[in-house]
Amino acid sequence: MGKALDGVRILDFTHVQSGPTCTQLLAWFGADVIKVEKAGTGDITREQLRDIPDADSLYFTMLNHNKRSVTIDTKNPEGKKVLETLIKSCDVLVENFAPGALDRMGFSWERIQELNPRMIVASVKGFGPGPYEDCKVYENVAQCAGGAASTTGFDDGPPVVSGAQIGDSGTGLHLALGIVTALYQRTMTGRGQKVLAAMQDGVLNLCRVKLRDQQRLERTGVMKEYPQYPNGTFGEAVPRAGNASGGGQPGWILKCKGWEADPNAYIYFITQAPVWAKICNVIGKEEWATDPEYATASARLPRLQEIFAEIERWTMTKTKFEAMDILNKYDIPCGPILSMKEIAEDQSLRKTGTIVEVDHPVRGKYLTVGNPIKLSDSPTDVTRSPLLGEHTDEVLAEIGYSPEQIDVLRSEGAI
Ligand code: COA
Repeated sequence: MGKALDGVRILDFTHVQSGPTCTQLLAWFGADVIKVEKAGTGDITREQLRDIPDADSLYFTMLNHNKRSVTIDTKNPEGKKVLETLIKSCDVLVENFAPGALDRMGFSWERIQELNPRMIVASVKGFGPGPYEDCKVYENVAQCAGGAASTTGFDDGPPVVSGAQIGDSGTGLHLALGIVTALYQRTMTGRGQKVLAAMQDGVLNLCRVKLRDQQRLERTGVMKEYPQYPNGTFGEAVPRAGNASGGGQPGWILKCKGWEADPNAYIYFITQAPVWAKICNVIGKEEWATDPEYATASARLPRLQEIFAEIERWTMTKTKFEAMDILNKYDIPCGPILSMKEIAEDQSLRKTGTIVEVDHPVRGKYLTVGNPIKLSDSPTDVTRSPLLGEHTDEVLAEIGYSPEQIDVLRSEGAI
């Protein structure tokens, strides 16, 4: 069966996490992704957080599946020529260097356009144009600058960053959408274009509801679904909302049986209005279904703490999975707090290819997250990440270099 992006060639100049997540997705959709790395060291993540001496780290292997690796010294004049040939034969160049690095290498947008007017040049940067545009940025900087940290955590504690890599992987996802959109437009215009995904913008996009709340706060001075209501105070900016749900259906994380020993024996419980009577029945508070102090969603808002404490008395008598089974029978929205260990062992995630076991010639078998986006006509086969420079000869031969020319380039240190 063919793949959605068959025939698309990506010149992958990405490193660390944000760019590689983007090109990995494109590879899973069928693009031929040629990763250009510095000879000798390669992507810095190959050796970061290593768990096996001399084997590419999980950091690298889990972000670079289905790609080919070529090593080129892009500061060497002959290396630059190889790169020029590659630019002419590819559809998209993806990069996430520090601002200006590609220009300093001699590959400005204008130069790339001269070489290949159909080329799409896609970049992740920390910030868009403005006061911080020249800054280098990593994940947590983006979470802080994009509004995630100031709105995450508890009101009486400092800002908190999340385990989800919304700055890096989130921006990679945004960039991938920009690239396929630009490829689609190119089918009509015949021209390439620049695609920019700034990490601050990507995080802010994912924090859209908090900008919504900022404006609600400014208009009304209070947000009744926040835990600060009715006893706490609201300041000028959206406060941290603990585990409150982001929407109109109040929710909270509640202890389950075994919480004293198991840090993940918790459940997320949503008091969705349409199933309120069922919730009352399950927890043995039938009278709340008709009591005007509790029967309506608006009457419940000032009492959420008391209500969740009562529900928790019930959830603490069940394991999170027992509680799930019971609540799901009544269509009460809830979710277990799953540990990474539980997720890694989850057989249903293995079956769908969301968790995949991959074999690697140096490190052996390891688990990875497969393609989270499933296309019915473009199935994903996850193959291992390339060794450093594994495909240099193969790719150079494809773009017209003879074995003798490749030997010369190698002896000159260009590849
Ligand atoms: N041959 C020769 N030189 C190469 C090369 C190659 N194949 N590949 C890269 N280089 C050079 C670059 O030209 C650059 O040189 P310069 O500084 O002289 O112009 C240099 O290697 C390093 O690039 P840089 O991006 O500055 O790396 P860094 O390790 O100092 O910074 C980041 C890392 C992530 C902070 C930075 O790249 C960045 O801010 N990127 C944009 C935001 C981003 O994606 N952040 C998320 C990371 S997960």
